[in-house]
Amino acid sequence: MKSIGIVTSGGDAPGMNAVMWAAVKAARFRNMKIYGVMNGYQGLIDNEIVELNDRNIEGIIDRGGTRLGTARCAAMMTEEGQHAAVRNMYDHGIEGLLVAGGDGSFRGARDLARLGVPVVCVPATIDNDLGYTDYCIGFDTACNTAVDAISKIRDTMMSHNRVAVVEVMGRHCGDIALTVGMVGGADYILVPEVEYDKPFDIDNVVDRLTKNREYGNKSAMVVLAEGVMYEHKNRAELLGQMILERMPQLDLKVNILGHVQRGGCPSARDRRYALQMTERAVQMLHHGDTGRVVGIKDSAVIDMPLDEALAIKKVLNESFFRLAHALGQAI
Ligand code: F6P
Repeated sequence: MKSIGIVTSGGDAPGMNAVMWAAVKAARFRNMKIYGVMNGYQGLIDNEIVELNDRNIEGIIDRGGTRLGTARCAAMMTEEGQHAAVRNMYDHGIEGLLVAGGDGSFRGARDLARLGVPVVCVPATIDNDLGYTDYCIGFDTACNTAVDAISKIRDTMMSHNRVAVVEVMGRHCGDIALTVGMVGGADYILVPEVEYDKPFDIDNVVDRLTKNREYGNKSAMVVLAEGVMYEHKNRAELLGQMILERMPQLDLKVNILGHVQRGGCPSARDRRYALQMTERAVQMLHHGDTGRVVGIKDSAVIDMPLDEALAIKKVLNESFFRLAHALGQAI
C-alpha cells in the first residue's frame, strides 16, 4: 500500500494521540501517505479527511484525548453509511485503514472489511474489555487517575471516620474496578462479571463492613464498576442507600469518578504499547494485510484475524480475583 488512513473511534482513551504520532512516523518511514479521519467513523461518512504530516503530530505524543476527534457513530451501522465511508476513502486514494478503538469500533471495521476495505485494528479503550488482548491502550492511565482519586478520598474519609462508595468506569468489564480497588486497598469491590454469575447481594457488603468495624476499622472503601446494577442510572447512590438502610449509624459519602478517568497525559506504559502496536499495524497495512487486529499477549505484540478476535469473550483476570480474596478484599 502507498496510502493509508487512520481513525480513532468510540470513547477516547489516553494514548490515542500516541497512536496517531506513531502511525504518521511509521507511514513516513515506509514512504506511504497517511490521512487522518476526523471525528471517528462519522468523519469518514461526512468526508472529513485530511492528509497528515509531521506538523500535525508535533507535541501530541503526551497529550490526552484524541487530536483527530472521535464519536459514537450510529450511521456506521447502516449500509448507506458504510458505502459512503468506502466511497470517501477511495476518492482520497486511501487503500487501507488503521482503526484505534474498542469493541464497537472493531465491529465497524469488520463491516468495512466485508466491503473490501483492508483494515487493521489497534485496541484503545480504558475499559480494557477486549477478550483477545491482555491490554488496551488507555487502561493504565485511567487506573492511575482513579487510584490517585481513591487515595485522596481515603485521606478525607479516614479523617472523618466515614465510609466511601466510589464508582469507576467499566460498562461491562470490571478490570478498572478490580485493579484500582485492589491497589487502592478497598474493603469491597463490586464488578459486573460477578453479578452476571450470582445476583448482587447487599447483605454480603454489609457483612464485610460490619466485620471490618469489629476489627477496629472506622473508615471503609467500597469500589464499584459502573456495570454493576447498570440498569439503574444512579447505581452508586442506590448502593449507598442500601448500605445506609442496614447500617444507619454510618457516615457514608458517594463519589462517582466519571470522565476524569478518560483524560490526562498517557502513562509511559500506554505510550509504549501505543507505539509498539501501531508500528505493527502500519507494517501490516504496508504489506497488504486486511481484517486483522493487533494486541498484547504476555507482554509481546501479536496479531490475529478480526473475526476471531471479536469472538473471544473477555473474562476477569482470575489470578487478580484470587489475590484480592487472599488479601481479605471481598468481591
Ligand atoms: O470508553 C468506555 C467508557 O468510558 C465506558 O466505561 C463508559 O460507560 C462509556 O465509555 C461512557 O461513554 P460516553 O462518554 O459516550 O458517555
